Amino acid sequence: MKKIIFAVLAAVMVISLAACGGSKTSTKTEQTTAPAATQSATAEPTADASDNENSGTTDNILVAYFSATGNTRTIAEYIADSAKANIYEIVPEIPYTDEDLNYGNDDSRTSTEQNDPSARPAISGTVENMERYDVIFIGYPIWWGEAPKIMYTFLENYDFTGKTIIPFCTSGSSPIGTSAINMKPSAPGADWYDGDRLDSSSTREDIASWVEKFDLGTE
Ligand SMILES: Cc1cc2nc3c(=O)[nH]c(=O)nc-3n(C[C@H](O)[C@H](O)[C@H](O)COP(=O)(O)O)c2cc1C
Repeated sequence: MKKIIFAVLAAVMVISLAACGGSKTSTKTEQTTAPAATQSATAEPTADASDNENSGTTDNILVAYFSATGNTRTIAEYIADSAKANIYEIVPEIPYTDEDLNYGNDDSRTSTEQNDPSARPAISGTVENMERYDVIFIGYPIWWGEAPKIMYTFLENYDFTGKTIIPFCTSGSSPIGTSAINMKPSAPGADWYDGDRLDSSSTREDIASWVEKFDLGTE
């Protein structure tokens, strides 16, 4: 039964990915325009507003995201632009290859990790001065209805007590479901929004409207 459901999902995903291909738009930061595998270990390019082309950067908002194939990256960049936030890419210490991402293979890396409750894939680099952020958007692709385990690694690496976390995800078709709720124990002291699935083909304007839902104090 699981295989049949996944075959349907896979078909939807192929269509979705094809539709999204090449739609990446770079933001102001060098980090987010470079391929993940080549990015620097300490990845917080906009942390110093003086280095930032966008002088309106709001110092207390961070968009932290993981993206294996680029869809979530595009949305994260739009969010960062709209919220005038800093942006941080969660880069796996060991990059995911195409074979790792093969959801049709029960023995692929992603299959194995997602089936292992204790899996915490290592991250290359850290967020400098996490204490400065009050609001953190966290973005990820849906993998079998859940957030990739590397998101748990990220959350467990920092103290989010008193901070607001706003989850967002992209997917072939699955909703955000319980993927964000299931991460809450990894950042227990935070105030969590429910979060949303954002369509990979969303425009910058679509995402700006979504960001407006939140009272970020950036106006
Ligand atoms: C291992 C794996 C599992 C996936 N599982 C689902 C799923 O359960 N539901 C779904 O709608 N899409 C699923 N997808 C598709 C991704 O969620 C979708 O393509 C997403 O936008 C990818 O984001 P990214 O380009 O930022 O990595 C899966 C993709 C991979 C690689």
